[in-house]
Amino acid sequence: MRKKFIAGNWKMNTRSIDGELLASAIVKGLGSDTRVDVAVCPPFPFLSRIGQVVRGTPVGLGAQNCYLKDDGAFTGEVSPAMLVDVGCQWVIVGHSERRQFFGESDKLINQKVHAALKAKLRVILCIGETLDERNGNRMKPVLNTQLAGSLADISSEQLKSMVVAYEPVWAIGTGVNATPQQAQEAHVFVRERVGQLCGESAAQSLVIQYGGSVKPDNAAVLLSQPDVDGALVGGASLKADDFLAIVRAGIQ
Ligand code: 13P
Repeated sequence: MRKKFIAGNWKMNTRSIDGELLASAIVKGLGSDTRVDVAVCPPFPFLSRIGQVVRGTPVGLGAQNCYLKDDGAFTGEVSPAMLVDVGCQWVIVGHSERRQFFGESDKLINQKVHAALKAKLRVILCIGETLDERNGNRMKPVLNTQLAGSLADISSEQLKSMVVAYEPVWAIGTGVNATPQQAQEAHVFVRERVGQLCGESAAQSLVIQYGGSVKPDNAAVLLSQPDVDGALVGGASLKADDFLAIVRAGIQ
């Protein structure tokens, strides 16, 4: 049985004080409940501070990006080792906003995945097709290319420290979520392909999150699909009550 994993991607939102209040409310609301894995991914400047809030609680800490070197002359970048240093267990890699606005390729994403794993971070690898790609019947080839590129040379052992988030770009921040059937179909395909790339049994244990307009009112039906093992939540992760309601929807 795969344990459900709900992560909040705060994106470029909050200031330190409201981030701290948000994290505190999530910690308080979750209490000692570990039936679902939970993590928050605040912006870089607040990681250290939020790390203090979640330390010793079931709420994990993740970053939204990282670079592929440990140290050096890479102005503006943040290394996996630095993220570990401030208490992160997780890092999101390959989010569609990084692909779209910052030109990240599958090759770069693959390098980041390797660097993060080497630093002992767990990776949430994001993939997903655009609306044009879906309408052009290219969802599967696109996911295939993203998976093959970003999982290059990842072993079944390394895959155990990874989660894949299927985030159709057309569902992100639009209020239009994938239907449960669309999510399930994509997740089955992702699991199949990951099985071919990294080994069948590792793929069976892989947690595959769905992301894209997950809200309290659609979370339960999405999370009840057999291959939807969690959610990567954007907008709704910025309100503690909404995020906690999504976490509760994962307890089935
Ligand atoms: P929304 O939940 O705001 O659609 O964002 C999803 C997402 O991109 C999470 O990484």
